[in-house]
This record gives sequence, C-alpha cells and structure tokens, in this order.
Amino acid sequence: SLPVDNVQALAGRVGSDIPERYIRPERQNEYAHSTSSSDDFAGVGSIPIIDYNKLTDPNFSDEEAAKLHSACQEWGFFQVVNHGVPEDILYKMKQDTEGFFKLPLEEKESVAQLPGHLEGYGQAFVLSEKQKLDWGDMLFIGTLPSHIRQTRFWPTNPHSFSETIDKYSIEVKRVSDILFRKISENLGLEQGKLYEMFDNGVLALRFNYYPPCPRPEEVLGISPHSDATGLTLLLQVSDFPGLQFRRKGRWFAVEVVPGAFVCNVGDIVEILSNGRYKSIEHRAVVSDRNERISVAAFLTLKDGDAVGPISELVEGEELLYKSLQFEEYLKMLFSSKLEGKSNIDRMKL
Ligand code: SIN
Ligand code: FE2
Repeated sequence: SLPVDNVQALAGRVGSDIPERYIRPERQNEYAHSTSSSDDFAGVGSIPIIDYNKLTDPNFSDEEAAKLHSACQEWGFFQVVNHGVPEDILYKMKQDTEGFFKLPLEEKESVAQLPGHLEGYGQAFVLSEKQKLDWGDMLFIGTLPSHIRQTRFWPTNPHSFSETIDKYSIEVKRVSDILFRKISENLGLEQGKLYEMFDNGVLALRFNYYPPCPRPEEVLGISPHSDATGLTLLLQVSDFPGLQFRRKGRWFAVEVVPGAFVCNVGDIVEILSNGRYKSIEHRAVVSDRNERISVAAFLTLKDGDAVGPISELVEGEELLYKSLQFEEYLKMLFSSKLEGKSNIDRMKL
C-alpha cells in the first residue's frame, strides 16, 4: 500500500472539512435514486440464518445443509448462529480490539505495515495517488497455521490481545471447517474436498475501525468489493449496522445479530465451484455519531494450491474460469485496487 493518512487521526482533526479523496461522487446518484423510487433501498437485508448446532446434529443436519446450499446459491451471504464460540472469547475479542484502536497513534504504529505490504496496521489496497480512500483503518494479520505468523505485527497492547486472537482463530477455524464440509457435500464433492483444501489453507484476520464521519453519506468505510477468500466470517463488534451487500443492483444493510458470524462466499469458492456459488459484492458505510468496529476472518488457500474450477465440477459443464497457482492469484490481487468483482472478472475465460 501507498502511505496515506491514518483516518482515525484525520477524523479527529478535520471537523466537517473532509479531504476530497474520501468523497465518493457515485453516492450522490444513489441517494437521488433512493428518494425517488423504492423503500427497500439500503433496507435491512434479511439474509438466511444458519444454525451451526443443527448442521452438526444428525437429526437436523440434512435439512440445515439444504438451507446452507440455498443460502450459498441464492444469497452468498448468511448469518451463522449457535456456533458454540464461548461468550468469553467473543467478549475478549471485542474488548481487546476496542482497546487496541483506542491506543494513541504512535502505539498502534508499533505494528504498522511496511511499505507495499498488507500485513500490519494501516490501509489495504491503496495503489495510486489518485484513487478514492476508505474512511477507515485496519489491522491485518495471518493467524493460522501458526507457522505463518509474523508476530512483529501482533499487538502486544492490550497484553491479552495475542492470546485472544489465538483462541478466536481456533474457534473460527472449527466453525469454518464444518461449513466447508457441508459445502463440499452440497456441491457433490467426494471426501470433503473443499474442507481439506481450506483445512490446509490459511486463516487471516482483518480488524476494521471506522471513525465517525460528519458527512457519512458521502464517504465509504470500505469500497464495494468481493472477498478474495473461500469464505469470510465477520464478527460485527459494534451493535449497529454498517455492512451492506449488493443484491439485484441495490444495497442492503446486514442486520446485527449479536455474537453471530456474518458469512459470505468469496471469489475462491466461486472459482473452485465453477460459478455454482457466487461471491457477493459488499461495502461498509459509516456513521456520523459512532465509531464502528468489525473483525473479518478470511479462509484462504496456501502457496502451491491451484485456484481454478475443481475438475469434478466441470464435467459436462462449460469451464468458466481459468486456473492460477495461488501465488500467481495473489500477485494478480495485489496489483490492483479492490473494485467490485473486478478480481473475479480477471479470472473469467
Ligand atoms: C469487510 O468487507 O471486510 C468489511 C465489512 C464490515 O466492516 O462490516
Ligand atoms: Fe469484504
């Protein structure tokens, strides 16, 4: 990433005079549109709710797996409830994440990104001096398997943060394992193929901090994008909405279900499944009163893996995406800014 202002610090000093680079002209048309037409614009998107308990209970698992299949196919977004992540781990995650972002800038910068790298505290995907900027800061770290950890980017303040991140990662992995097993079955893949690929893959966390903004309707916390992941499991730490997804050309807010994971299908699952499941464009909006915090867990692959349609899923079908080695795929990813589904478009044949 190119070095840009820390948004939390900027928000504290600019008042209502927001630098031009954060203002999104495209959002004006959006509002013009909303007043003239529908009432469901940016309305609450009631995405499917998947009950983890049921998924793992032999008496209910078939029915719940069928719900998961239609959630993946029709929505690409769903909430996972009853996932069994202990309350105290979720609570510590909230506390430590808030604690970290509350620290003075100099202290947060002890884990600052290095120029041109994603990992650490800073901004993601800033590649040109001209591109519009997100109204938010983030901390990005790889957490599993443990040998990928670059601990120099792990905050030591709050002192319990790294232990919390470790425990949280193990729990998220357990939840995503079941999802990948069921998704494998739902796609008709033998022996949990997707589960195995992602079980051997990488888990990374992105902690998002969106300061309040005096002109919230003119900025974005995160630009529209789809995730370059298999699945993403998001914890909405703050108790008011900000995440929106695009469906049939419109933006819908994702409700906050306290303690639930908002799960979305990523580009890699779209590619592996040869388009049976599609990644969904989403973005974050910000508030004029409250800061907002979220924690995204990205389930992704590892070097040496092929990012391309799984051969069993291509038999008798048109091949829709090319294959790249994971390393090449990442190179492609990091060579451009995040913009809608452009990364997946580059993989289309
Ligand atoms: C993201 O796409 O990672 C951000 C979502 C959010 O903050 O709700
Ligand atoms: Fe995302």
